[in-house]
Amino acid sequence: MVMSVILLAPSWATMINGIMTVSDAWQKLRTDPALKFIVLSLAFYGLATFEGPMMAFPSVNVVSHFTDWTIGHVHSGALGWNAMITYGTFYFMVPRLVGSTLYSVRLANLHFWMALAGTMLYIVAMWGAGVSQGLLWLSVDEIGELSFSFRDVMSSMTPFYALRLIAGLIFLTGTAAMAYNLYMTVVGRSTVTVNIPAVDPAYGVGR
Ligand code: HEM
Repeated sequence: MVMSVILLAPSWATMINGIMTVSDAWQKLRTDPALKFIVLSLAFYGLATFEGPMMAFPSVNVVSHFTDWTIGHVHSGALGWNAMITYGTFYFMVPRLVGSTLYSVRLANLHFWMALAGTMLYIVAMWGAGVSQGLLWLSVDEIGELSFSFRDVMSSMTPFYALRLIAGLIFLTGTAAMAYNLYMTVVGRSTVTVNIPAVDPAYGVGR
């Protein structure tokens, strides 16, 4: 638990450093989809690395362990941080690889909102499911027997899992929109040729 709380410091230092790096270019966030995704990914990184140490507290972990809360935490990292930073990198690199501009900035903006909505809905659904499961599993009757069976608990999960399905479909559709956008950006073009700069022979490269 102590190490997890200590981990908050380097994680948040990274997030704050990343967000402050773009603080001079806020107006670019309106027009540059790559930057939007990268800043959003940093925000989710902050969320996941705040939630993680909290989940390491025994009093929280006794509720969250073995529940969908952990799955929510995983996906605030996996979708919010890892997927978003990957999307931002693609939107930045792919047009440059072919020396062109992105096929559709509007479609990329739509993807941004779909990715944000999909991730938020997913996390909220799993928080709801996880906290419900944790509390139901911990409730015991007056003689100390479990008040709810595994079946009772799982059968009450339908609304949460339905919401997660919708969230996943929104997220997936956004990803498909990006794939189409990037395909239209590169189709019919060839990759730019980069001339490798001459290296001072004193470095002995290629010997
Ligand atoms: C300071 C940062 C973080 C801390 C201290 C932390 C801590 C935790 C804790 C306490 C759990 C629950 C363990 C359990 O009850 O079984 C967990 C689960 C998990 N976390 Fe994090 N987390 C952090 C950030 C992240 C990030 C950024 C990601 C993803 C990119 C991530 C991915 C996962 C995964 C995949 C699991 C599920 C492991 C499993 O059950 O197999 N975590 N984390």
